[in-house]
Amino acid sequence: MCGIVGYIGPKQAAPFLFEGLSKLEYRGYDSAGIAVFDGNRINVEKSVGRLNALEKKVEKALPVGQVGIGHTRWATHGRPSDVNSHPHTDCSGRFVVVHNGIIENYLHIKEKLVAKGHVFTSETDTEVVAHLLEEYYQGNFEETVKKVLSEIEGSYALVFLCEQEPDKIICSKQDNPLVIGLGEGENYIASDIPAIINHTRKTYILSDGEMAIVTKDSVWVMNRQGVPVSKKVFEVHWDAEAAEKGGYEHFMIKEIYEQPKAIRETMTGRLAKDDSAVLFEELKWTPEDVAAIRKIVIVACGTAYHAGIVGKYFFEQLARMPVEVDIASEFRYRSPLIDDSTLAIVISQSGETSDTLAALKEAKRLGARTLAVTNVVSSSIAREADQVIYTWAGPEIAVASTKAYTTQLISMCLLAVYIASLRGTMPAERVKELIRGLKELPSQAHELLEDVEPIKTFAQKYGFNEDVFFIGRSLDYAVALEGALKLKEISYIHAEAYAAGELKHGTLALIIEGVPVIALATQRDVYEKTLSNIKEVKARDAVVIGLAMKGDEQLQKYVDHTIYIPATDKYLTPILTVIPLQLLAYYAAVTRGCDVDKPRNLAKSVTVE
Ligand code: F6R
Repeated sequence: MCGIVGYIGPKQAAPFLFEGLSKLEYRGYDSAGIAVFDGNRINVEKSVGRLNALEKKVEKALPVGQVGIGHTRWATHGRPSDVNSHPHTDCSGRFVVVHNGIIENYLHIKEKLVAKGHVFTSETDTEVVAHLLEEYYQGNFEETVKKVLSEIEGSYALVFLCEQEPDKIICSKQDNPLVIGLGEGENYIASDIPAIINHTRKTYILSDGEMAIVTKDSVWVMNRQGVPVSKKVFEVHWDAEAAEKGGYEHFMIKEIYEQPKAIRETMTGRLAKDDSAVLFEELKWTPEDVAAIRKIVIVACGTAYHAGIVGKYFFEQLARMPVEVDIASEFRYRSPLIDDSTLAIVISQSGETSDTLAALKEAKRLGARTLAVTNVVSSSIAREADQVIYTWAGPEIAVASTKAYTTQLISMCLLAVYIASLRGTMPAERVKELIRGLKELPSQAHELLEDVEPIKTFAQKYGFNEDVFFIGRSLDYAVALEGALKLKEISYIHAEAYAAGELKHGTLALIIEGVPVIALATQRDVYEKTLSNIKEVKARDAVVIGLAMKGDEQLQKYVDHTIYIPATDKYLTPILTVIPLQLLAYYAAVTRGCDVDKPRNLAKSVTVE
């Protein structure tokens, strides 16, 4: 997983390359590099570390030239180091390549090239591509690239420069994203739209197997056989501000505060004015379509997987459908029992997560009907699935997912009510009640975000503890899983979530004096039982922070601190309870001086297995 940029036009390339890469650092940030053609030769500059390490390295002598490519890396083959950083070159330095993905047959190619005398300088899979270009080049860059692409196997977004033909950049993609930004007398290439949005809103989104020849005045798109493809211009409507921090200290806190708006936008146009129904214009399912579904399988990774667990409660309880939830990297290797009566729902913020994409392909292969729930229009997952529900959270830049999660929960709830209505498992009055509850959520989320001081205080007080436990039952347990993930990924505090009733089967041994336990107790039907579990940890002198619904007078008697969420329908509590947990994780990370938006070892979009 990496970020790629390219520029060709009348201006100096380097300033754009740096700007674009800074917008793509969420895709990986263990090293960075650029290559710029100076009129004679291609100069490559690269450095291990964040982009600013490279900026420092070249600040006194910025590479000069009007054609260039750049890369920010998240290591797969070869540790983060100067030599393993992209761009990679052949022996002569005439061919330069940046790559996002994995060349699966690189060892075989490398052996062949070494036998022919090629000398490799890095441990990466990518370097073979530059050497192949050198090996095959006979005066025609385009034909050479086609030949190289026909030889490599794996996933890639690749961008190539050739010193002999510096009037063009060639790029191609398979299973990893690549966008071309269309300017006036200049063109751009990037892994993602935020990199180019300050320069153009007109784009071509390349599809798998396509290759583009980009000059300053033209963009030719073709398939790998060279047959021209006519592309539709995709106009970006995001506001440039939306991809920036907008006055907040970190993207994560900005995105936490964007949740009321994101929740509203996810529901826009999907709720009947009289509250009687959920409308999914993009699905248009009939009762017969739904009757053909025997089982739902939800597949995702990380936070999106946690949204799937909440979804399971929704589909089972509201639509009375059997549901399995699986981690994508497990799903594809466990011979899942799936056929054409299965609805496979894949959830992915980025729409590019390699494990989720592979699981989706596997579900399709087995005959399932597939539905993607994703935030990124035209992402690989969106294009691969039979149908798509977009979550409309807007770009999520912080590595830790927040608004994508809440909008995934909204999407799960809408879909469950939609299916329930088609199956007749929800009385009309209950549908209305739930829809009214949904409509309240944006203002309730806003209300929660207005008073963050108590949460900040807890975070400052307990931010240096080694372990934190999260407990809850039913939907509270599902949210506890997400609360623990948020805390560990950005503050590096060891955090575990347990079904409250499961604690006594082992984990209770870890509860000793002063250990913080976050106890979620919003579910009335299991309230007394949760209370008993809270008493169990209090009896071991844990410090308990309770999360309750407004109006609950009881919980505060048994815990050390209480956080209240606005009163809502029991199915809608996850959308509100997660917000204090996100804030707790955020302020704990800030208290500990962690790099909130770019936690160590992680990247925003995981496009490798
Ligand atoms: C955690 C987080 C990750 C992602 C996971 C899946 O905060 O963001 O766990 O949820 O990598 O990513 P997507 O949703 O893009 O498929």
